[in-house]
Amino acid sequence: MKRTHTCGQIRIGDVGSSVTLIGWVDVIRDHGGISFIDLRDREGKTQILLHPEMPGFEAVISAVKPESVIQVKGTVKAREVANVNANMGTGEVEVEAAEVIIENIAQTPPFPMEDGKTEKVNEDLRLQYRYLDLRRPSMYGFMKTRSVAVNAARAHLNELGFLEIETPYLFKSTPEGAREFLVPSRVNPGQFYALSQSPQQYKQMLMVAGMERYYQIARCFRDEDLRADRQPEFSQIDIEASFIDREDMYAIVEGMMKRIWKDALGVDIQTPFPRMQFQDAMNRYGVDKPDTRYALEIVDFTEEFRNSAFKVFAGIIANGGVVKAMNAKGLGDATQGEMKTLEEAAKSLGAKGLAFIRVNGTEWKSPILKFLSEEEKAALASKLDIEDGDMVFFAAEKWERACSILGRVRTDSAKLLVSRGRLSIPADKYNFLWVIEFPLMSYDEEQGRFVATHHPFTAPVPEDAHLLDTNPHAVRGQHYDCVLNGWEVGGGSIRIHQPELQKKVFEDVLKIPTDVVESRFGYMLKAFSYGAPPHGGIAFGVERLAAILTGRSGIRDVVAFPKTQKGQDLMANSPSEATPRQLKDLHIAVNLPQQQA
Ligand code: AMO
Ligand code: AMP
Repeated sequence: MKRTHTCGQIRIGDVGSSVTLIGWVDVIRDHGGISFIDLRDREGKTQILLHPEMPGFEAVISAVKPESVIQVKGTVKAREVANVNANMGTGEVEVEAAEVIIENIAQTPPFPMEDGKTEKVNEDLRLQYRYLDLRRPSMYGFMKTRSVAVNAARAHLNELGFLEIETPYLFKSTPEGAREFLVPSRVNPGQFYALSQSPQQYKQMLMVAGMERYYQIARCFRDEDLRADRQPEFSQIDIEASFIDREDMYAIVEGMMKRIWKDALGVDIQTPFPRMQFQDAMNRYGVDKPDTRYALEIVDFTEEFRNSAFKVFAGIIANGGVVKAMNAKGLGDATQGEMKTLEEAAKSLGAKGLAFIRVNGTEWKSPILKFLSEEEKAALASKLDIEDGDMVFFAAEKWERACSILGRVRTDSAKLLVSRGRLSIPADKYNFLWVIEFPLMSYDEEQGRFVATHHPFTAPVPEDAHLLDTNPHAVRGQHYDCVLNGWEVGGGSIRIHQPELQKKVFEDVLKIPTDVVESRFGYMLKAFSYGAPPHGGIAFGVERLAAILTGRSGIRDVVAFPKTQKGQDLMANSPSEATPRQLKDLHIAVNLPQQQA
């Protein structure tokens, strides 16, 4: 190495030693004659003392600007007591430079690279200069935590006898799942690969192949609309094992999480994780990934309002809907603006309105109050524990929609309560949860048809399998999601391993046409007819785990080179146009939409 120590390493015990440091110039201070440079690398900073007598002193001082890279050879000195900096690990020492070698001279950076300041800089500019953004200590910390977490997962799985096996990224297009990125094949004109959305099918083939225990830190590609917790390419800790049931998988994962939290944060998490049925999660929290660090639970009032004089509620119930309510405890002083925002959020999920009761002392204020009977009010007061200063919200809709609406109102209300200091959601509390027994299929509003809730390879819960013919929508799947503090961090299932059952799910249940099943999944059905072990697996979003470990609200900070909302890499400038020559080689013609042509 060019250095003897890192910039965070030298201590008082090193006084008198000759050292060589190399790093970035953090700041330069001219103290009339002598100069000080704080030299920085990822491990910390060391103060360098430069005397005018040093050979080349003038040249160094005039050339070197902050962020330049220099190598310093010198001797460790103790600082005078008055100059000791207790906030720095190296604060008791400095290095008196005997020689400075300039490695690279930096231009003035386009923004201040300082934790607390850089965050305020326009994100596009930060992404354009991502290598500067990443130079901050906090960003190094995020990268490091992510790396430690992945290594902890690897260590745990290796100890359990899992093999790390890579599978192709160039895969084929499959009809179920997210939109894919297509890759033209030059040697097969007119034919395309799809970038793998996950190694799902390959890992199942590895089980058929007898590998028994597989994992991979797999890059996945999904051409989805991006959100704070989604990137078009992301990494999974992808796991599959043979001869296991759900309980085995829970144990494998709980051990892995224990190891990750211990190694990354030194925190002992509690296992086993609590389990919650999907139905229960929806009924109580209005979402399949509840943040159970706070209550604000949803309560059902369908029976109470079945014969209500309030025709809106009674009518919806008569049509098979439900009435649910949630007490946003302490939000009785919500402003008009906040109420409007909450209502708009509810409406974006299909709510027809967002009825509420505002509680002021013993007085209830509400546009629906005049419709409520004394019994109804008494039921609300007792089941919702209504007190002075509360705010109750209602959703009367079909079951799933009513749940989702209040689930959204719940999380939005929680944010308002946190900002008022009336609710605390501790960042260092890790409420892991297994959400289980999802319906095998769910209705996709966009596609207007039933689709696999998880994916079409998920096995039904054995007790429900007989319903596949008569009432397929009532069948629960052997699917499990691992939820942490309101994030879905992982999901998986026990798989179907019998070709007849798999074919039935594709064709009779999901209504995928036989020819499509044959062309897309024929090889799988064939594989299952050559001896397939019972198997199951799971995949965890590495970025989501890392974001929670580092206390981030989105995953961009734990991705070295993230894409923007529009899927662009602003640093390298991609995507970009292909040359005519490239297109010709690929047998591709570009046909732009009219307005852009
Ligand atoms: P699933 O689609 O649920 O399951 O994905 C597993 C986990 O991957 C993470 N994740 C994402 N992270 C960032 N950006 C995205 N766009 C994104 N999409 C998903 C989430 C999620 O829980 N093959 C199955 C797993 C299995 O059955 O074994 C699968 O991919 O944390
Ligand atoms: P209306 O009598 O239609 O004006 O509704 C009275 C109140 O109930 C208003 O505050 C509406 O926002 C609300 N509301 C209407 N429909 C629903 C519904 N399906 N669920 C919850 N609140 C509703």
